[in-house]
Amino acid sequence: MDVTITESTVQAVPAGSTLTRTAIVTGGAGGIGRTISRRLAAEGYAVVVADLNQAAADQAAAGLPEIDGADHRGFGGDLTDSGVNRELAAFAAETAPIGVLVNAVGISPKRNGRKIPFFELGDDAWNQVMAVNVSAPFFLIREAFRYMPTDGSASIVNLLSITAKLGTGGPADAGFGLYLPSSVAYGASKAALQNLTASLSHELAVRRIRVNGIAPGFVQTPMMGEVPIDERLLGQVPMKRFAKPEEIADAVAFLISDQASYITGTSLDINGGWLTC
Ligand SMILES: NC(=O)c1ccc[n+]([C@@H]2O[C@H](COP(=O)([O-])OP(=O)(O)OC[C@H]3O[C@@H](n4cnc5c(N)ncnc54)[C@H](O)[C@@H]3O)[C@@H](O)[C@H]2O)c1
Repeated sequence: MDVTITESTVQAVPAGSTLTRTAIVTGGAGGIGRTISRRLAAEGYAVVVADLNQAAADQAAAGLPEIDGADHRGFGGDLTDSGVNRELAAFAAETAPIGVLVNAVGISPKRNGRKIPFFELGDDAWNQVMAVNVSAPFFLIREAFRYMPTDGSASIVNLLSITAKLGTGGPADAGFGLYLPSSVAYGASKAALQNLTASLSHELAVRRIRVNGIAPGFVQTPMMGEVPIDERLLGQVPMKRFAKPEEIADAVAFLISDQASYITGTSLDINGGWLTC
C-alpha cells in the first residue's frame, strides 16, 4: 500500500515569478514573529503575516521592507480553526508558491503576568495551549505543503522552546538544579511540537521539503510578561543575557537557506549555553 504523499494529495502550484516566493509567518504580529517577518522580507520573500487580529496583521505587514516590489499581506483569523488554516494556505499561494512557513504562533498561560501552578490550571487553559501551540501549526502544515515547491527550496520552521526538553517549576528559591517558572502545559505542548517537527520531516522528505525547529531559551518579547529578570533565571544562562528576537530570526534565515540543505527534523537550541551537554 502506498502510504506516502501522492500527486493527487497536492494542489497545482500557481504560476508565479520564478524569483518571488511567499513566506507565511504565523504569530507574525508578535514579538518574535514580527522580527522574523522583517528578516524574510529583507531576503526577498512576499510575506503573509498571519495573526489573530486582522488590523494587527495588516499593520505588521505594512511595515515590512518591499524588495523588488514584493507584496506583503496581512491575514487575520483564529489559527486553532482548521478551516481558517485552509483559507490561509490558499490565500498565501494566490500570488506565488509558498517557499517558507514559519509557525511562530504560541501562547503561555499567565495570571496577573505570572505563570500558573499546575494544580490551578483549568481545563480551558490546558486545551487552549494545546490548540494554539500544537494543533494550529499542524493544521497549517497539513494545508500549506500542497502549495510548496518540490525542487528542494521550500522549508518549514516551528518555534519550539527550551521547555520542550526541560521540566519546569519547582521551588523558586531552589539552591541547586535548573529553575524555570511552572509551565506544565506550555512545556508539554512544545515537546509535542518538537516530535511533530521530527515526524513531519520524515513525511515531507519525499517532497524535498525540510522541517526544522528552533528552541529558544528566554527571548526579550512581550510573551515574557512579568517573569522576573532576576538572578534565579539569568544566573543559569552562561552568557548572562536573554536572546534578542533578531538572533532567532538569524537562525530562521539559516535554516531556510541552501546552507542548511541537509538539515531536517532537527531542533536548534538558541539559549546562550543554558542547555548544553
Ligand atoms: N519569548 C520567549 O521567551 C520565547 C521563548 C521560547 C519560545 N518562544 C516561542 O516563540 C514564539 C513567538 O513568541 P513571542 O514571544 O513572539 O510571543 P508573542 O505573544 O509576542 O506572539 C505570539 C503571537 O501569536 C498570536 N496568537 C495567539 N493565539 C493565536 C491564535 N489562536 N490564532 C492566531 N494567532 C494567535 C498572538 O496574537 C501573538 O501576536 C511562540 O511560539 C513562543 O512559544 C518564545
